[in-house]
Amino acid sequence: MKNKRKLSFISTFWFLLIFSTNIFAGTEATDDGYGSVLKVVIAITTFLIAFVLWLVLVYAESNDTKGEKVITPFSKFIHSMTQSVSIQEEDDIMLDHNFDGIRELDNKIPPWWNALFYGAIVFAFVYMIDYHVIGDGNVQINEYEQEIKAANIRLEMLTKSGAMISEETVTVLTDVGALSAGKETFTKNCAACHGFNGEGLVGPNFTDEYWIHGGSIKNIFHTISEGVPAKGMISWKSQLSPNQIQEVGSYILSLKGTNPPNQKAAQGEKWVEPTEDGA
Ligand code: HEC
Repeated sequence: MKNKRKLSFISTFWFLLIFSTNIFAGTEATDDGYGSVLKVVIAITTFLIAFVLWLVLVYAESNDTKGEKVITPFSKFIHSMTQSVSIQEEDDIMLDHNFDGIRELDNKIPPWWNALFYGAIVFAFVYMIDYHVIGDGNVQINEYEQEIKAANIRLEMLTKSGAMISEETVTVLTDVGALSAGKETFTKNCAACHGFNGEGLVGPNFTDEYWIHGGSIKNIFHTISEGVPAKGMISWKSQLSPNQIQEVGSYILSLKGTNPPNQKAAQGEKWVEPTEDGA
């Protein structure tokens, strides 16, 4: 009976302890998706293990009254780990010396403690060989370099997908695929105001040499993404990706000199592409 109460106290204690570490783990700031997924998996797993252990103990308390299935083996295991001597038998291991009433028991070093001690020594060897003999020991530098590598791979992927294109880096596309994608975007979103052939309607003509906001791909990228809200040209950056803006901008530039019917009169300044040195 005494054993059983002790056991249920220990189990409740462990349950709370394990559960509370999960709660702490959950509040830690996570920097990437992988870390937080891993934490959730670990939290759920520990919770399940703790829950199953708790169920076993609840079952044992009501069905295993003699304690044969759970409690005795558990107590035996705990005893093998501690090698502790019960209070009744303490006289047997009392040492002879006595300093002002302070006496000493000749307890064995608990096996769990020894396991931890020798385990730490073995771990230290493995660690040393792994990091300083096989590896070069520059743990932080290696981690840093790996992060840089991963970041470069991500950058490359983003660049390929067009997400990194900006007003500063945009270039004119001339390949057929990009121009036909640009045409599609134009027909769907822009033709209503700029005419199906870019001849101009509410918005300006794209087939002449005159531009209100500049005729370089960088100017055009800026006008499309930011818009000119006061004049009825909306900002498209929330609806079109940088890649799509580049495509439609390149398409607009390809319309120059196509001379469609019903052209709108020129607006703005005649655009002259600045030379390389900016003069
Ligand atoms: C609701 C009508 C409307 C729609 C739709 C529209 N625009 Fe415009 N756009 C305008 C107007 C009006 C102007 C002239 C702004 C000004 O006067 O400053 C303009 C100006 C521009 C300019 C600058 C022209 C210059 O001379 O500098 C570009 C480039 C442009 N639009 C591209 C687009 C693209 C690409 C789309 C589709 C994704 C689009 N526009 C959709 C009305 C529209």
